[in-house]
Amino acid sequence: MSYDFETVVDRTGTGAAKWQHMLDAKPDVPAGISPFSVADIDLKLAPEIVEGLREHLEDVVLGYTVATDDYWEAVTGWFQDRHGWAVTREQITLAPGVVPAFNTAVRAVTAPGDGVIVQTPAYYPFFGAIEGNERVVVRNPLVLREGRWRIDLDDLAEKAADPRTTALLFCSPHNPTGRVWERDELNAVWRIARDNDLTVISDEIHFDLLMPGVQHTVFSTLNDDAAARTIVCTAPSKTFNLAGMATSNIVIPNEQLRENFRLEQGRTGFFTLNALGFQACRLAYSKAGAWLDGLIELVHGNHELVRSFFAERMPQVVVFDLEGTYLQWLDFRALGLSHEELKRINEQEALVYFDEGAMFGTEGEGFERMNLAAPRQTVLDALERLARAYAP
Ligand SMILES: Cc1ncc(COP(=O)(O)O)c(C=O)c1O
Repeated sequence: MSYDFETVVDRTGTGAAKWQHMLDAKPDVPAGISPFSVADIDLKLAPEIVEGLREHLEDVVLGYTVATDDYWEAVTGWFQDRHGWAVTREQITLAPGVVPAFNTAVRAVTAPGDGVIVQTPAYYPFFGAIEGNERVVVRNPLVLREGRWRIDLDDLAEKAADPRTTALLFCSPHNPTGRVWERDELNAVWRIARDNDLTVISDEIHFDLLMPGVQHTVFSTLNDDAAARTIVCTAPSKTFNLAGMATSNIVIPNEQLRENFRLEQGRTGFFTLNALGFQACRLAYSKAGAWLDGLIELVHGNHELVRSFFAERMPQVVVFDLEGTYLQWLDFRALGLSHEELKRINEQEALVYFDEGAMFGTEGEGFERMNLAAPRQTVLDALERLARAYAP
């Protein structure tokens, strides 16, 4: 089957958050301009999901719905086939999103006032999940070594040694830098977690989005101790563009930890997911693998395009290797512009709408995050506009 990864999907007026942000930045943005910010996908949905939902709707009752056997089989089958990860359905807790899940997890595994470590720059809701729940953000800034973002393990060990620090909110693969942590790096992080008795909340929402030849290791598969101290957050939402379905699967092998998570989740009044979310997730995981392979090819090609374009036309901008996710991290610092000036030129002159690096913490200032899950031509047009706007 061949898939359509070329048609530009204009989401103006559909309530799409990313498009609304663009309009907020420039109310008179001309037609034909697509944004590159929020992490969802401006492409047609996998036809397997659309067809399956259509069929399902023929004869549907949308009452309270719980997971069925075929839902569990699709989810655990995907984990096994794509990640070599053996998960039982009992280990999975449903949640209406990974952001709600890591908020729940922070409350379930730490006490008010505790420190929670994050590698910065960090996905911005990480800060909210910690501070909004009256915990303390403990920053472990990533370091750039030979052009690749690394975890500063000495700093991590030092911060973890503080007895007031009790958890690590980990992003793997890492948004916004696009790093997929190698097994050695994960083992080093695990040893620090073990030695300091940290619970690891591992947000692996991007784990299906791996560039060719890159391997991802699920944190809880490292060893038994890692499994026992880790909450792994997964969802089909980034992979298959189902964020609006608010459906995610949280894997907690440790029974006590799982119980604590469920208790905390129960306090929010959560009972079950939305009926269509179950169907979309089941269809994605059981039928849309080939579509994902095509998406990855597109994203990888877009990354190559961005890399060669900047190398030729704007060599001051550093384009980091993309190992996973569809989020390209770009370093604009060498242009020597203030944050405001960068924003003005990108958004008002070039009509290119990124997620500004500063959203990911002060460590992200001078960087931009570009969403590459878009048709090739859309990416190329935006690059041309940028090059024109920055031309001397
Ligand atoms: C690391 C990370 N976690 C979570 C989310 C969002 O999760 P959800 O929509 O399931 O709440 C995103 C979306 O970009 C993300 O990048």
